Amino acid sequence: MTQRRRLVAGNWKMNGLRAARAEFDAMLSGAADIADCELMIAPSFLLVADFAAAAKGGKVAVGAQDCHAKASGAHTGDVSAEMLADAGASAIIVGHSERRTDHGETDETVKAKAEAAWRAGLTAIICVGETEGERDAGQALSVVERQIAGSVPEGATAANTVIAYEPVWAIGTGRTPTIADIKEIHDAMHAQLVARFGGEGEGMRLLYGGSVKPGNAAEIFAVENVDGGLVGGASLKAEDFLAIARA
Ligand code: PGA
Repeated sequence: MTQRRRLVAGNWKMNGLRAARAEFDAMLSGAADIADCELMIAPSFLLVADFAAAAKGGKVAVGAQDCHAKASGAHTGDVSAEMLADAGASAIIVGHSERRTDHGETDETVKAKAEAAWRAGLTAIICVGETEGERDAGQALSVVERQIAGSVPEGATAANTVIAYEPVWAIGTGRTPTIADIKEIHDAMHAQLVARFGGEGEGMRLLYGGSVKPGNAAEIFAVENVDGGLVGGASLKAEDFLAIARA
């Protein structure tokens, strides 16, 4: 099996004023001795440039939570991947379920945004995951496979793409799938990516997301084909985020 470097990425969602820089600074200093795990925080667009400047040479990268598919133009209120690269971001989360739900993003939209991230030289962190109803109906695996097929563009490589499996019902709820359920989905995603992208698919990192916290991270990260986590609520505090990174 190819060695995939662990990644723990924090998604701050619509949280954090400028004063949250103190928390990010605490993450930077606390992460100085973490060697076996890549770290990233995706704050609001407004904080990306400031955080990225502070993070230069440090162990925590800065990402963004979304982008427009186009590089520039008449799209009021939107932010392009090029702007995020210019601000110092190194990755963009695309297709988070909150964007799929709140903004009607389809697999087609998500795919275009992933391509936009690459165009700007950034990594795309592509999110997939079933709703509770879909899981109860026994469709979790087929939904995830369909989302991966539709959201991951041709040209995905181990370097430019990370996949995050985030069951919608586990996000912000304190509930997580069983370890067996996480393993089933991650094994299937890995097989699907290897079948489509060969060696690149072999090296593509697969994050689990949804109520990851210091108390459950070690068990989840020990699952084969889980290469780290996408963390929401528990990434807002340096202490919790660093504890997850050390898990
Ligand atoms: P959570 O969110 O860790 O707060 O459940 C995860 C996410 O939505 O990325």
